[in-house]
Amino acid sequence: MTAMTPDDLTRQVAGAFAGTPEPRLRGLISSLISHLHAFATETGLTAQEWRAGIDFLTATGQKCDAERQEFILLSDVLGLSSLIEIVNAGGEATEATVLGPFYVPGAPRRAAGEQIGRPEDGSPTLVSGVVTDTSGRPLPGATLDIWQSSGNGLYDTQDPGQPPFNLRGVFSAGLGGRYAFRTARPVSYPIPTDGPVGDLLRATARHCWRAAHIHAIVSAAGHRPVTTHIFDAENPYIGSDAVFGVRDSLVRPFRPAGPSDPPDVSFVADMDFRLVPDSAAA
Ligand code: BEZ
Ligand code: FE
Repeated sequence: MTAMTPDDLTRQVAGAFAGTPEPRLRGLISSLISHLHAFATETGLTAQEWRAGIDFLTATGQKCDAERQEFILLSDVLGLSSLIEIVNAGGEATEATVLGPFYVPGAPRRAAGEQIGRPEDGSPTLVSGVVTDTSGRPLPGATLDIWQSSGNGLYDTQDPGQPPFNLRGVFSAGLGGRYAFRTARPVSYPIPTDGPVGDLLRATARHCWRAAHIHAIVSAAGHRPVTTHIFDAENPYIGSDAVFGVRDSLVRPFRPAGPSDPPDVSFVADMDFRLVPDSAAA
């Protein structure tokens, strides 16, 4: 009798799942088994190491509650969340990036140019641009759902010192697809490190900082929405964002305001957004 090899076992397990009726699930499971088994085989994974892995995944689940989703954070620091955005990118649309855990639906509607923060949140900054489709046609009435952290690195939901919906707002693009809002210049902030994902970052000598950014979900009727960021070009973490969210096309200068800019802002950033029509997105 010859002993069973790793390949023999992998084939046997793949065969056990081969009758999965739903074709997409069948394909996903088949690929998962093959990559998972290859990982264990190629690394010579020991039972003790896999037990440590199971303990880590168990702790990750135990850290989750209504406010905290440690599995999403794990997916973020492994680059999987970002990879999925890239794999599903909408052609010529503005590049998408991670949603992150701090989005709150239902932010107040705000007037064009309105300030979404307080003076203590940071340097007053004007962000403006146009929303168009991928052939450059303006999309008046497009919606921009904006959120960001304060100068202390915290979102309103993490910081009892901020009023609800501080640094959040929903804007409509006007004539020519133009939009504008006032905010605070964003700062870098650490992702949460008080759970298993923090342990993983420390064990692998990785830092926990996000490159300074403003979040946006941009949508318009008949177009595929884009979940994205505007990154500050001068931020020191632009090349090493903890969740691999930076795309070159999303990095913008936050330039000091000049004489032709509104007198109440210190910095100005320009960012245009392009949405792909639904018919072209498939
Ligand atoms: C954020 O940008 O809000 C974020 C994204 C991923 C992990 C943690 C925070
Ligand atoms: Fe963020």
